[in-house]
Amino acid sequence: MSDFQAPKGVPDYLPPESGQFVAVRDGLLDAARRAGYGHVELPIFEDTALFARGVGESTDVVSKEMYTFADRGDRSVTLRPEGTAGVMRAVIEHNLDRGQLPVKLRYSGPFFRYERPQAGRYRQLQQVGVEAIGVDDPALDAEVIAVADEGFRALGLDGFRLELTSLGDDTCRPQYRELLQEFLFALDLDEDTRRRAQINPLRVLDDKRPHVREMTAAAPLMIDHLSEAARQHFDAVLGHLDALGVNYVINPRMVRGLDYYTKTTFEFVHDGLGAQSGIGGGGRYDGLMKQLGGQDLSGIGFGLGVDRTVLALAAEGKTVGETARVEVFCVPLGEPAKLVLATLAGRLRAAGVRVDVAYGDRGLKGAMRAADRSGARIALVAGDRDVEAGTVGVKALQTGEQVDVGVDDVVTDVLARLA
Ligand code: HAM
Repeated sequence: MSDFQAPKGVPDYLPPESGQFVAVRDGLLDAARRAGYGHVELPIFEDTALFARGVGESTDVVSKEMYTFADRGDRSVTLRPEGTAGVMRAVIEHNLDRGQLPVKLRYSGPFFRYERPQAGRYRQLQQVGVEAIGVDDPALDAEVIAVADEGFRALGLDGFRLELTSLGDDTCRPQYRELLQEFLFALDLDEDTRRRAQINPLRVLDDKRPHVREMTAAAPLMIDHLSEAARQHFDAVLGHLDALGVNYVINPRMVRGLDYYTKTTFEFVHDGLGAQSGIGGGGRYDGLMKQLGGQDLSGIGFGLGVDRTVLALAAEGKTVGETARVEVFCVPLGEPAKLVLATLAGRLRAAGVRVDVAYGDRGLKGAMRAADRSGARIALVAGDRDVEAGTVGVKALQTGEQVDVGVDDVVTDVLARLA
């Protein structure tokens, strides 16, 4: 056993599986790139107050899961638990909201939540996300949702469903909250649940215990108490999703773990993952920018879990990205051949081919074993006699067939074989 291990709940991403990770991370956002979302790279840690105010003090994320510490200047900073608050901070700080609206941004990277680690739940998790800020238009909600949906589908994933609801706005949510609390306080709830009903009554609707489920089966639902404006907004979103051919189911009991959501709220759920079935989620946030000291502008976005998407693909028996490390493996036998093959490796790499070389003067047998292990389709083999003859042995590793090719023709020959 080594002296050190990675921190609990923090995965390492190693080859060859890391190839899949990179393909998923980049693939998930390709639809966003094509829809005009610009890349942002934001701080991994921020002022603690940003998350407390942005995400909400009453959420588990803020009250129990943040990695918060004092830096050497005694400022309280927090490793970002999510992306939206930081994006909003940057938009306000750099006045992006004073320019062309909506501001459309995309991001990817690690986020940190002190959760109990289990399959699909990590303390350092990887997300990709987008935010579209400054315009409250149902068509934009539909675009954001469609971009996430397309992100998953482009990877070949299809065993997921999109759940959707509206959490209302500030003209109907406060009344609904009261109505729900009235209902909940009339029930025979335990102390903890009663407290939750006091602080965040919606969370009680998300309680997984059967007897609580039963008691709350007839609870009033936000979707039945939307204001006229919120109702119309939601109907328009559905109309756009229908037109875009995005399938969804309405889940009026959906509860998200972050406080900023208003109106359209959604989650992507995959049934092949066990308990941690949420592969992505998002929604509109009407009050967030103002809450953080900016203008009173709305926004909408999503965060998709890269780790869970990788697991979901595995559950569907699918792979994406490069499965083999290299395509060509060079086996030089002796000094003159080393020079010849190093030069050829350089030319092939310049032509876009992934090439590795057997280093360390291994014998033919050991080097050929390394070639097989590399996953390459082709080996280039040369010794002193080949160098004298001006040729290289080009070997198809699957069939074992080998032919001599003139040094100047090797690049063309290999490219043709790989095409
Ligand atoms: P979230 O639902 O908290 O939303 O996280 C988004 C996704 O990140 C989840 O659906 C899940 O796939 C993944 N995820 C969350 N926690 C973990 C974990 N501990 N381990 C592995 N994966 C995890 C947000 O973070 C919002 N900022 C999304 C958003 C953007 N809403 C509007 N704009």
